[in-house]
Amino acid sequence: MKDPTTLRRLYGRSKGRPLRAGQSDLIERLLPQLSLPDEGPIDARALFGDDRPLHFEIGFGAGEHLAYRADLLPDHGFIGAEPFLNGVAGALGHIRDRHLANVRLHMGDALEVLARLPDASLRFAYLLHPDPWPKARHAKRRMVNPGPLDLIAAKLAPGGELRLGTDDPVYCRWAMMVMGGRRDFDWLAESARDFLTRPGGWPETRYEAKARREGREVWYFRYRRC
Ligand SMILES: C[S@@+](CC[C@H](N)C(=O)[O-])C[C@H]1O[C@@H](n2cnc3c(N)ncnc32)[C@H](O)[C@@H]1O
Repeated sequence: MKDPTTLRRLYGRSKGRPLRAGQSDLIERLLPQLSLPDEGPIDARALFGDDRPLHFEIGFGAGEHLAYRADLLPDHGFIGAEPFLNGVAGALGHIRDRHLANVRLHMGDALEVLARLPDASLRFAYLLHPDPWPKARHAKRRMVNPGPLDLIAAKLAPGGELRLGTDDPVYCRWAMMVMGGRRDFDWLAESARDFLTRPGGWPETRYEAKARREGREVWYFRYRRC
């Protein structure tokens, strides 16, 4: 891969506040039931027993978006990757509360999971508020770079969709520049205001709500894999 964005280069934390007893219980009991197998194929049939459409969320944070989408589309399969322990515990709470049977998780690097997915196997990929890496000299660590994007492009089926959200103005411009230079994705914007408006079926995460409270704008991008 040309532009590795690895766990070792995580921008934020991989561990935060100590988990509450209930959260530790979720990590110990529910996570092993929902975790991706360490080896072997991770296609829809292996994970869910049929050929349902697959969605993949990179860095799901506390899992609000992942759980919302999985609840909305119970016949689809959802895979989420997130190395932040407290985030994984949060996602497990949503999965339990909503009784979701269509979600599988990987506590770790999303790129490792993407690499194991069969080519053209995803209907949707989500990259919401990726770590900003705001300094120019760290730009190569951003998820929106040729290496990770080539991988995402390979795993999305033709007609599949990449959704990208950011509250970082540098990242917004960067994403427009990098994505604008690609021939394998079409920007699904219909008007100049499109990327200012939250698309349907795209819920606000706690992270996004915080960004807005702090006065930051949020931009939404949808790209179709050609
Ligand atoms: C700013 S947070 C946004 C969280 C969430 N997407 C949201 O919108 O609420 C970025 C997240 O990406 C995760 N992350 C960073 N690098 C990652 C990687 N290589 N694989 C998976 N997740 C990653 C971080 O742990 C963090 O939770």
